[in-house]
Amino acid sequence: MDKFSTIITLSPLVNSCIRQAKLVARTDMTVLLKGDTGTGKEVFAQAIQQSSKRANTVFLKLNCAALSENLIESELFGHKKGSFTDANHDTIGLLKSADGGTLFLDEINSLPISIQSKLLHFLDSGEFLSVGEVIPHKVDVRIIAATNFDLTTLISAKQFRSDLYFRLNAFPIDLPCLMDREEDIIPLSLYFFDVIAEKNGGKAPTFSKECIDVLQNYDWPGNIRELKNICERFSVLFAGLVIEPDHLPAEFKTNIHKPKLKHFTLPETGIKLDNLEANLIYQALERTQGNISKSAKLLSISRNTLSYRIQKYGLSTDF
Ligand SMILES: Nc1ncnc2c1ncn2[C@@H]1O[C@H](COP(=O)(O)OP(=O)(O)OP(=O)(O)O)[C@@H](O)[C@H]1O
Ligand SMILES: [Mg+2]
Repeated sequence: MDKFSTIITLSPLVNSCIRQAKLVARTDMTVLLKGDTGTGKEVFAQAIQQSSKRANTVFLKLNCAALSENLIESELFGHKKGSFTDANHDTIGLLKSADGGTLFLDEINSLPISIQSKLLHFLDSGEFLSVGEVIPHKVDVRIIAATNFDLTTLISAKQFRSDLYFRLNAFPIDLPCLMDREEDIIPLSLYFFDVIAEKNGGKAPTFSKECIDVLQNYDWPGNIRELKNICERFSVLFAGLVIEPDHLPAEFKTNIHKPKLKHFTLPETGIKLDNLEANLIYQALERTQGNISKSAKLLSISRNTLSYRIQKYGLSTDF
């Protein structure tokens, strides 16, 4: 069975991620899954592992944000009895335990900088030293890493090594936010409703047309996890009923994203792009009474870019 078929999507962006993931799954390459919280990084990591030739071997996971610096080091590389105060016995560590299989390093952005160089050495050589040992171990482990934070920002802040980033980024897969795959909101909801109805019994609810509009205009900060949680709640509250916009939690009324430009149809006769841009900037400035930061946010561009364009078009910020 295609292990990616459990990833529900109609989105071209996600389908492109699936194509890349299927190709890389056949290799032993390190993969870096990038995406905001709840976008499906772990789902992808599992599908890659299950479609790889390591499918029937071990798949281990380490959440780099969940442990202290010392613990992470011994958890990953293992330690020798007596190598530090609480080291009462030898521990082999996840790399050794995952020999022949795959290790998923979740939230790699939280990996302490002191351990990053050891991980890089392992990725380059397949070798590592356990804490308190002098003879390196050599293992065959495929690494899949995930980050919900932009690593280049961490590099600028000197919290992430650029050499490790380039090593991990050899095969990046960028998972889009749910807001950028709004065509998936309904198929995902139906899937979650079905799964829950099958588990708990009872009839699945449905969304009214107005409710679907609201769901598709919401910005989903928690992405698919947030949608899944809401579907679970609604399955209990509205079993067999139609969900209307009034039933949605308050954040759905306040946290609505802007209509996307893709709804703009290019007229047969064409347009003057500069005029359109100047006009939209003017509208943003008018709406925010000339506030450049707020206008930049409305237009999804940086403050500097907006200031440059205001000058370019000779627009005023006095309203
Ligand atoms: N395409 C999908 N189809 C069905 N369920 C999905 C899909 N993608 C994600 N999910 C579900 O959404 C939830 C969040 O997915 P996942 O844990 O993979 O996200 P994540 O990117 O690892 O999040 P975080 O950064 O918070 O760890 C999970 O319950 C997962 O099963
Ligand atoms: Mg995750």
